[in-house]
Amino acid sequence: KENSFVFHNGVEIPNIGFGTWQIPNEEAYDAVTMALKNGYTHIDTALAYQNEENVGKAIKDFDLPREEIFITSKLPAQIKGYDETLEAFNTTITNLGVDYLDLYLIHAPWPWDEKGADYTEENIQSWKAMEKLYNDGKIRTIGVSNFSVSDIQALIDACDIVPMANQIPFYVGHDQEDLLAFCKEHNIVVEAYSPLATGQTLNSPKIKEMAEKYGVTPAQLCIRYCLERETLPLPKSTHEERIVENSELDFTISPEDVKKLDAVEDVRK
Ligand code: A2P
Repeated sequence: KENSFVFHNGVEIPNIGFGTWQIPNEEAYDAVTMALKNGYTHIDTALAYQNEENVGKAIKDFDLPREEIFITSKLPAQIKGYDETLEAFNTTITNLGVDYLDLYLIHAPWPWDEKGADYTEENIQSWKAMEKLYNDGKIRTIGVSNFSVSDIQALIDACDIVPMANQIPFYVGHDQEDLLAFCKEHNIVVEAYSPLATGQTLNSPKIKEMAEKYGVTPAQLCIRYCLERETLPLPKSTHEERIVENSELDFTISPEDVKKLDAVEDVRK
């Protein structure tokens, strides 16, 4: 289907998600309601964002059956281990007020303050708990976030289920070629968080110039770029006109221009 990606177990995910990182709980209700009102049916949150409660309320109050909304949440980076994972999952579904999740991700391979540390064994234990929740029908798809090729390979080697998604920072100028190729080879859906590099790509002269050529906004060009690279963008905004703008992507970028965008200098380097 054109408007969705398909995981290796056959489950579909709408090809644009509403990102809620950095949306405080007080603002999450209105933001998610605006997103749903404007046609988004895929909402991405995490226990660590501390907004699950109002994300869940907005979804509940909105007039759509639960099965028509795709909800992703994440196991906090610092919570590792089998029982710990089951417990954190319960906290998340309680916060959200749902009885199942569409996608659950290990938020990062290491706690944020130990970036790069080796938590392979702990991640394997967490993954086994995710497999159990999946097999019990509590989660429709399971995946990881911020995982490198070797982090994913360790799970593939030790566990039964190949991760179905890897959510990574991906934006114009930050083209993660090797990781993308690896994920493609293993049928792992790549989700692009911060598709605007948290807004920093929008002032790039090259991006502005190309956006003008296509008659779109820099944000639309950057979000469309993710789709051209077969990654699933998760744009975030708390402004309704931007929420609408970010989902109006009815154009394509030529392969030559995609290459030019690949080569743009990384705004965050
Ligand atoms: P705001 O939430 O105030 O609208 P990313 O998705 O890469 O994390 O980027 C999110 C940042 O980009 C936020 O600061 C958001 O601001 C801003 N942003 C999102 N969409 C747009 C847009 N269409 N035009 C300009 N800025 C945007």
